[in-house]
Amino acid sequence: MIVRQLFDAETFTYTYLVADEESGQAALIDPVLEQIDRDLLLIRELGLTLAYVLETHVHADHVTAAGVLRDRTGAKTVAGARGAPCADMAVRHGDGIALGGLTIRVLETPGHTDDSLSFHVPGMVFTGDALFIRGTGRTDFQNGDAGTLYDSITRVLFVLPDTTVIWPGHDYKGRTSSTVAEEKAHNPRLAGKTRDEFVQIMGSLGLPPPKKLAVAVAANRACGRVEVAV
Ligand SMILES: [Fe+2]
Repeated sequence: MIVRQLFDAETFTYTYLVADEESGQAALIDPVLEQIDRDLLLIRELGLTLAYVLETHVHADHVTAAGVLRDRTGAKTVAGARGAPCADMAVRHGDGIALGGLTIRVLETPGHTDDSLSFHVPGMVFTGDALFIRGTGRTDFQNGDAGTLYDSITRVLFVLPDTTVIWPGHDYKGRTSSTVAEEKAHNPRLAGKTRDEFVQIMGSLGLPPPKKLAVAVAANRACGRVEVAV
């Protein structure tokens, strides 16, 4: 298995390349429109074929590269059943996405948004904006719900083996990965916190709206293939 973490410095977004070495089949998780050329170059350099573009959710902070990548490579775009209607495949909890001999398992982890997914491969999980390193995604728009997010994290992600590596959708402090054990012990919103305490924490964050909220959600429901001023 090949895994590469890529970073968009403007939106602090992580994109992941996951590939099966033997077949050369690859997937990109949460690619950013402005980083298409970088990502395609890496895929070419590694001798891979882009089979799928996976979206963890309809993003509010950046425009996805999914639609342009589909046009340029023929890759299939994949989103949750409640996610972007433009996707070629709508997936549900437990579904598998095959890259040669490697299966990416879909985990529904709603709460940040109602369509949020995580993607599990052996030993690691890509958590999108459900679970960050020492934090979580916000829950104050796009049908977000703090109680639902607590349930997703504690019942779906924290039941994975403690050694499971967590690859988040963003980090704003330069951190790159974590583990289930590390977040259970040290995530300040979750460690030793009840569901009610978590809901209270999430309700008192007072965050400003993301800069691209107005254009990004509409564009991403169309896989980024609309004329938008970003
Ligand atoms: Fe998000």
